[in-house]
Amino acid sequence: MSLVTAPSAAANLASAPVASAPSVRPATPADDVFVEDLQATAFGPGRFAKTAYRIRERFKIDTSLSLIAEVDGTACGSVWMTPISIGGLNGWMLGPLATHPNFRKLGAGKLLAREVTKRALARGDGKFVMLVGDRDYYCPLGWEPTTLGNIAFPGPVDPSRVLVYADDKTLATTLSGPIAAWKQG
Ligand SMILES: CC(C)(COP(=O)(O)OP(=O)(O)OC[C@H]1O[C@@H](n2cnc3c(N)ncnc32)[C@H](O)[C@@H]1OP(=O)(O)O)[C@@H](O)C(=O)NCCC(=O)NCCS
Repeated sequence: MSLVTAPSAAANLASAPVASAPSVRPATPADDVFVEDLQATAFGPGRFAKTAYRIRERFKIDTSLSLIAEVDGTACGSVWMTPISIGGLNGWMLGPLATHPNFRKLGAGKLLAREVTKRALARGDGKFVMLVGDRDYYCPLGWEPTTLGNIAFPGPVDPSRVLVYADDKTLATTLSGPIAAWKQG
């Protein structure tokens, strides 16, 4: 009598396709269509009404800080940075950050947020990265709540979602003033 055994669960798992860990690279103009489609998918038409959109219209993103996340060579996520100043101090506003729905929960979003912040602050000419987002997502990455109402936006925002990352840990609570243009020189 021959003994036929079913393939083990471990063998099935081993043959299942497993996505590689995401990586990041600078965005190029060839990514523009992907990024536009991704932002439309992630945020819908309401994205144009957001206060953050008004800030990006006014101060323009720094495309040298735009990053793309990839999994196995396929673009799956994007992040932008807008140079700004608050209370005379230069820094950036992070966003939009988005990962394509087919590639979520692989670490792409957190990698993009961490990496773009590291690259921006390494330049040395800006001192903080501010964003409007969920505390549960960003605070474990080092973002901190700001003092409610300290930072003045050109439109409505929920002040409890205004978060700051800075090497100087006093900045999140002390940063104060309207969002203005990056100060030259
Ligand atoms: C938010 C977003 C960028 C996360 O992208 P992602 O590549 O899936 O993120 P990561 O893989 O790095 O992290 C996933 C983890 O964060 C959690 N998470 C996702 N969105 C979250 C949120 N808004 N608040 C708290 N946790 C969140 C997931 O549940 C997951 O948890 P797990 O690791 O315990 O399973 C993506 O869901 C997205 O594009 N959403 C729509 C656009 C958006 O809301 N952007 C953020 C604007 S502030």
